[in-house]
Amino acid sequence: MLVDEKTGVQIEQWKIAPHVVELEASIIREILKISSQPGVISFAGGLPAPELFPMHDLQLAMEEVVKKHGAVAFQYSFSRGVPPLRELLAQWATDRGTASHVDNILVTAGAQQAIELVARAFVDRGDYIITEYPTYVGALQAFNYYQARYATVEMDSEGMIIEQARKKIREYKPKLIYTVSNFQNPTGITMSEKRRVELVELAAECNIPIIDDNPYGDIRFAGRDVPSLKEIGGDRVITLRSFSKIIAPGLRLGWMNGPTQIMNYFEKVKQCTDLHTNTLCQYIIYEYVSSGKLREHIETIIKDYRAKRDLMVQTMREHFPEGIKWTEPEGGLFLWVELPEHVSAKDLLPKAVEMKVAYVYGEPFFPDGQGHNTLRLNFSNATPDNIVEGIKRLARLLADSL
Ligand SMILES: Cc1ncc(COP(=O)(O)O)c(C=O)c1O
Repeated sequence: MLVDEKTGVQIEQWKIAPHVVELEASIIREILKISSQPGVISFAGGLPAPELFPMHDLQLAMEEVVKKHGAVAFQYSFSRGVPPLRELLAQWATDRGTASHVDNILVTAGAQQAIELVARAFVDRGDYIITEYPTYVGALQAFNYYQARYATVEMDSEGMIIEQARKKIREYKPKLIYTVSNFQNPTGITMSEKRRVELVELAAECNIPIIDDNPYGDIRFAGRDVPSLKEIGGDRVITLRSFSKIIAPGLRLGWMNGPTQIMNYFEKVKQCTDLHTNTLCQYIIYEYVSSGKLREHIETIIKDYRAKRDLMVQTMREHFPEGIKWTEPEGGLFLWVELPEHVSAKDLLPKAVEMKVAYVYGEPFFPDGQGHNTLRLNFSNATPDNIVEGIKRLARLLADSL
């Protein structure tokens, strides 16, 4: 008889579904546990800088919500999201070149829930999904739950290599294309305008929808803006957005923008999941954004993250040994490091933690578990002093290991 070691509870009587028994815990969450040990300088998480959270303005927004909206803000609300916030988000998209109606918008508990809704709504067991190689690990977790399979496409500095995508589509007949087109997690790569046009053309030719997961698009600190996939592809594209990186992730507020009829389906799927996104948080964000302070706040984030990226890259140039490559992203929160082929970033992590520095090794971002010599560094969360010290520690570790 199976008995829980700690509690003595008999496990057998709980008939957990086999696909749930098989689920793996997120390796990143495990690494975050290790890296939150005292004294460890962590480049592991995808955390924004907490000192930049607009605490005072959020407090004002909260007071405004209670005064202006009262009990409505604490009541059950629509599965699609509260109307004033949806109107604001539709207007925001329209102002940026994607004409959007309030019915195109569905508010979610972060972009992660939006990915989960996509997986629920589209993926039947065994379906193929086109993803970048590597790709966002949280998306793989969501898709894995529904037993998706992956047709992966490598990237160069301009994003997905379209000829490879074309071949994979022919071979695997995927249900959808999932991309993180801006400042990708984990690599920091942004898809060029040319590739966006080509990807939309390919999707049209093969009649496949594109899911553009875009939580980082507003955090551009170098280079020039490129039109969004939705601007180019219209109703062929569903965009997933989030306030996590531009306001605060604890609010758990994201949204989807897609064709009305498709959003009608998502609304029903969302109803099964959680009825609706937290009403109070929707009103707080609505009041905060409509006060006009978000634009200025994003400027502050951009300035801070630009300086941190510059500092990280500069310190890597000065201290990393020869033979190591890395991306220099024009926005977002991450850069991606490639070690020489014979070095395993996973094997090095315990030694790094002993030296009180942490990162995420690359393998979990590859659906087939490859990428042993890669790792992701986050530059938004550590202080400037810790960035310099942490990179110097990593450099010492790498110099000893190469
Ligand atoms: C590409 C990508 N999509 C989605 C998410 C989830 O974001 P949210 O906090 O909005 O759920 C993240 C978070 O790191 C991400 O990097």
